[in-house]
Amino acid sequence: MKHALITGITGQDGSYLAELLLEKGYEVYGIMRRKSVVDYGNVGHIKDKVHFIYADMTDLVSLVNAMRISQADEVYNLAAQSFVATSWEQPIATADIDAIGVTNMLEAIRTVKPESHFYQASTSEMFGLVQEMPQTEKTPFYPRSPYGVAKLYGHWITKNYRESYDMFACSGILFNHESERRGKEFVTRKITDAVARIKLGVQDYVELGNMDSKRDWGHSKDYVRAMWLMLQQEKPDDYVIATNETRTVREFVETAFTHVGIKVEWRGYGVDEVGINKENGSIIVKVNKQFFRPAEVDVLLGNPKKADTELKWVREIPFRELVTRMVDNDMSLVAEEIKIANLK
Ligand code: NAP
Ligand code: GDD
Repeated sequence: MKHALITGITGQDGSYLAELLLEKGYEVYGIMRRKSVVDYGNVGHIKDKVHFIYADMTDLVSLVNAMRISQADEVYNLAAQSFVATSWEQPIATADIDAIGVTNMLEAIRTVKPESHFYQASTSEMFGLVQEMPQTEKTPFYPRSPYGVAKLYGHWITKNYRESYDMFACSGILFNHESERRGKEFVTRKITDAVARIKLGVQDYVELGNMDSKRDWGHSKDYVRAMWLMLQQEKPDDYVIATNETRTVREFVETAFTHVGIKVEWRGYGVDEVGINKENGSIIVKVNKQFFRPAEVDVLLGNPKKADTELKWVREIPFRELVTRMVDNDMSLVAEEIKIANLK
């Protein structure tokens, strides 16, 4: 039986990856941060099947300990301060976790079990101000946020340990992937949660930032399969994982509202743009400058050809299904919230 260690197991990807590895018969270990109230995040439903180890990416000793306990054959480094906007507010913490944290994990592996296979959660944010369309493994990087810069360090240190110490270390350059488990500050979940609340009459409108920003959105469940595939290859390498489709935030909003039977009509431009419910004329989307970023990544579009060819990775959940799954899930959650509030 193979042993896997997942950092960031309580997050979106960590939870889907843990499910996948359990299905495949792995002994799954996950690192968790100590909090004043114990919180299993997205893995509460499988907590009895996972071995949890208290550790932190900024504490090398704790990661060495996690390696000693787990004796992991495969290490998936998914832990990160992953919200781009917060990286301007906490640039040092972001660098400690997302950059130096990767070296900590690699050193822990080197100390305890250097033959372990290592996956680093790299990101399309490294392309930032994109230098070509679409982006591939060969596209030059130009990060646009402290998060992107920190992740670029993580990416290169992974490559460097592969070349310096012959470690089986891979980076997945994953484009945006979302799900029913996505944190509510990310734009997709913020939208689907708001759509459910507006539809069910407990919220009037949603305030968003840059509506023209374009992202290549897939589903997390498809993307964790690619992580696993990378660690099963003969040789370690880096791969872009994406859908090769890009859409604006505005299109995401329209698709989500359409699914609950609301047609949006757009009026005005920039910060004055509003989305109107065509049926009753009420404003359901506003733009608020507060949600704009100091430097923006205007467009991301990834070409996953190398992953298709070498990993035989296939995306199973198309864009519309991603949106409808998220909206349906939020409709159920909000309906349940309303039911409980009415019982009080
Ligand atoms: P997420 O939901 O925000 O999960 C992040 C995880 O990291 C959480 O489990 C969090 O634990 C943990 N963490 C944060 N700081 C830590 C620390 N100091 N020590 C230990 N654990 C810590 O993120 P995600 O969407 O699943 O993304 C997974 C990884 O892929 C991240 O590295 C992200 O940067 C990268 N990525 C994501 C995407 C995407 O579109 N989702 C695309 C490309 C790359 P707590 O529960 O304690 O907060
Ligand atoms: N969060 C948020 N909130 N974003 C908004 C809003 C809003 O109200 N309005 C517009 N946006 C725009 C952002 O400016 C950005 O251009 C786009 O929507 C997506 O924002 P996020 O959903 O926060 O994701 P991200 O693209 O910045 O980062 C995610 O994807 C990266 C991969 O490209 C995160 O998951 C990162 O961890 C990941 O590396």
